[in-house]
Amino acid sequence: MSLISIDPDRCTKDGHCVAECSPKIIEMGDDYPFIKVENEERCIDCGHCVAVCPTEALTLKTLSPVECSPLDKSLNLSEEQAIQFLRSRRSIRTYKNKSVDKETLQKLIDLARYAPTGSNKQPVQWVIIQDPADVQTVAGMVTDWMRDIIAQAPDVAKEMKFDTIVAAQESGVDRICRNAPHLAFAFADQSFPNAQTDCAIALSYLELFLPANGLGGCWGGYTTFATKSWQPLKDFINLPENTECHGVMMIGYPRYRFHRMPTRREAPIIWR
Ligand SMILES: Cc1cc2nc3c(=O)[nH]c(=O)nc-3n(C[C@H](O)[C@H](O)[C@H](O)COP(=O)(O)O)c2cc1C
Repeated sequence: MSLISIDPDRCTKDGHCVAECSPKIIEMGDDYPFIKVENEERCIDCGHCVAVCPTEALTLKTLSPVECSPLDKSLNLSEEQAIQFLRSRRSIRTYKNKSVDKETLQKLIDLARYAPTGSNKQPVQWVIIQDPADVQTVAGMVTDWMRDIIAQAPDVAKEMKFDTIVAAQESGVDRICRNAPHLAFAFADQSFPNAQTDCAIALSYLELFLPANGLGGCWGGYTTFATKSWQPLKDFINLPENTECHGVMMIGYPRYRFHRMPTRREAPIIWR
């Protein structure tokens, strides 16, 4: 079977698949769209050709129209809804003392994999901390990493205000993981050039999906930094060799509800 197959009874030769193909390997033949065999390896498997065809005429070797969920227009957000959805997202730093079940955590990751990735490589992998006690172990390891930076590179530590964070941790206030019950570490193989961006977008998708599940989250910036160099933390989360963690999200049930949406600075724009 060639990479794409066309149902001749359905294809109207509208050229949508040709226009939408990212690597531009779909051509319009005299009869129907086709891909030259020598170009097949350039397919990035994004599924645009299948998804854009209005008549379900095109099947990719790896993807048929029936496998692609149809779009329900009635679920489209209005501009007002989209603005509130995006502007009401908040970093959550106070959590209920309640765990999230594994099924729900799995659902979050299942949604995050729809985030865009460079060349559709989908390199993002996850470590999910399920046991709240393990989150506290992670917070302790990040504190150890900060103590080490304070000793080794006091100027850097001062700039990052690590002394106040360590003091907070020692007094029982968790400024690192905010007593969240769970953590999601997004990591990828170092060979992927867009891995950092891919992980960040996947985490953003995850964060935006949290409120629909009654959940909230907060980026774990300190924890992310610590994963770069602190071997005990890498070992604890079983970070595989030759991979790098590019972001961490705290996850849990928010203790409080926000009633208003704070303002942000005007975006500086260079109009040309
Ligand atoms: C890359 C990144 C790292 C962050 N790290 C932390 C962190 O370690 N601890 C924390 O409490 N908030 C962290 N935040 C959350 C920001 O402080 C927060 O987004 C900002 O204050 C704006 O608030 P909002 O997210 O509710 O709009 C981080 C955010 C980003 C994007």
